[in-house]
Amino acid sequence: FRHATQASLAVAQQIAALIRTREGEGRPCVLGLATGSTPVGVYNALVRMHQEEGLSFRNVITFNLDEYYPMQPHELQSYVRFMHEHLFDHVDIDPANIHIPDGTLVDTDVDDYCRRYEQAIQQCGGIDLQLLGIGRTGHIGFNEPGSGRNSRTRLITLDRITRRDAASDFFGDDNVPRRAITMGVGTILDAHQVVIMAFGEGKARITAEAIEGEITSSVAASFLQKHPNSQFFIDEAAAEHLT
Ligand code: F6R
Repeated sequence: FRHATQASLAVAQQIAALIRTREGEGRPCVLGLATGSTPVGVYNALVRMHQEEGLSFRNVITFNLDEYYPMQPHELQSYVRFMHEHLFDHVDIDPANIHIPDGTLVDTDVDDYCRRYEQAIQQCGGIDLQLLGIGRTGHIGFNEPGSGRNSRTRLITLDRITRRDAASDFFGDDNVPRRAITMGVGTILDAHQVVIMAFGEGKARITAEAIEGEITSSVAASFLQKHPNSQFFIDEAAAEHLT
């Protein structure tokens, strides 16, 4: 796409069509969702479709990819807050259908919680469509370099580059949490359909590596090359290094 806005609209239309198809089938639509700057245009478009075109989220169940750890839901940088501000507060989703990794747990409860997060996804029949952004480290979710193909939801240590990229949100590098809870690469690859977006020149190099480079745990997004139904939505600036 020439511009991110066009790509975002196309993604939102695809999601809306899926929600309506599932509604017609009398089944829930299970969405995996991302935060960060990349999906904001998609959420804006979905909110507009809800307000102006009658798109309902009553049959939608969501699982977010990740959350900083530790993190309280009311904090400025929390992904709970982000999702409510950009999507959930503006649509008719049932709050009971919203799942976001819990950044408030004590350390000893995290492993068990992550297992239950995986089970909850499976009990809903798996994720129909997983929305992703890509980090400059090649991460999807917070699967930093070294995350294996079969990794599952777990507590991870954030890469230095990722923490630097988040520094402005936290008013300084030192305030960025060192860890996060994230779905694993395996969790993401289990989704029936994956939509990954990359916008802007800052994502051009890692986008080319993910799409055309070697499939390697050094670039978690490269594992999507083997997914049977994954699409990259990129703007011209992010396409710059593709051959
Ligand atoms: C966010 C997430 C991350 C971001 C990535 C890109 O839930 O899982 O993988 O998608 O860090 O972030 P932005 O979109 O801010 O460039």
